[in-house]
Amino acid sequence: MNSSQSNIKKAKKYLDKKHCIGVPTETVYGLAGNAYSDISVKKIFKLKKRPMNNPLIVHYLNINKLEEDCYINDNFIKLYKKFCPGPITFILKLKRKSKISKFITNKKKTIAVRFPKHLLFRKLLKNLDYPLAAPSANISTRLSAVKASDVLEEFGLSIKYILDGGKCKIGIESTIINIINKPTILRLGGLDISKIEKVLNEKILVKTNSKIKIAPGQFPLHYSPGIPLRMNIKKPKKNEAYLLIKQRNIFLKNYYYLSRKKNLKQVAKNLYSLLRKVKNKGYKMIAVEKIPNLGIGKTINDRLRRASKY
Ligand code: TXA
Ligand code: MG
Repeated sequence: MNSSQSNIKKAKKYLDKKHCIGVPTETVYGLAGNAYSDISVKKIFKLKKRPMNNPLIVHYLNINKLEEDCYINDNFIKLYKKFCPGPITFILKLKRKSKISKFITNKKKTIAVRFPKHLLFRKLLKNLDYPLAAPSANISTRLSAVKASDVLEEFGLSIKYILDGGKCKIGIESTIINIINKPTILRLGGLDISKIEKVLNEKILVKTNSKIKIAPGQFPLHYSPGIPLRMNIKKPKKNEAYLLIKQRNIFLKNYYYLSRKKNLKQVAKNLYSLLRKVKNKGYKMIAVEKIPNLGIGKTINDRLRRASKY
């Protein structure tokens, strides 16, 4: 966070040389590479052990840069004005003359784009003459990273650099919306669907379990801490780490708090880091208290449901 100017320079140096680096966003950390370079993009897939048919999100500074690569429409502009930069990813139509690496989109005619809010990321983009492809900075199917140390835990020395921007403010990935035709949510995320509906003034379809597996946030197993997890638990087993959202009067050493006051934003922010922490403490099982299915609670439950498929 500090001395950012010299860190941004270093980050740029590695990216220009077609290396991949860790970058902070307001949602989760990303594993970034030059979106115009096949070499950089192929490295991302390899590092993440991600199937090549699973397309990446491209991150832009603003709408001007975006229009070099894809077509926009009225719905896009409405949502862009209201929520960007912020935790929303758009599926748009790719322009034929775009310089985007074909490996990003799996040779398809659509592309996922977003405008991250984190100041360090924005500063970095201002210094580059290409957008950044950046999936979440974790090995495929595992927990996303919300701190620089998480990124290090995932990739160790196989990446050259991590731009440390502190703990992610939102802590959960962006909401993905396809707005090419009828707006459709493909992944629940950090931005509430109800807010999007207000702006577009219509009810929005949610297709997060589509049979056509285009968004892997849609794969059954995802966001997994790598050990079994149970949801909606009133009484945990003795050997389970128990994740709670409201302060209890008793103190037990396997009790861990996502929030002490049922604050769901806080629960989202702490979710991945606490899952990571209890796993690293050596617990073999995790139980989570019931989370109200409201607002961002819906996204939290979506992630827990997928994590529980382990
Ligand atoms: O918050 C976020 O979105 C984070 C930060 C780093 O920006 N990124 C992130 O990327 O979560 P990733 O790769 O973990 O998830 C991207 C999702 C995947 O589910 C992918 O299948 C979907 O976006 N996606 C990418 N391109 C798509 C497309 N053309 N059509 C449908 N889904 C697409
Ligand atoms: Mg991911």
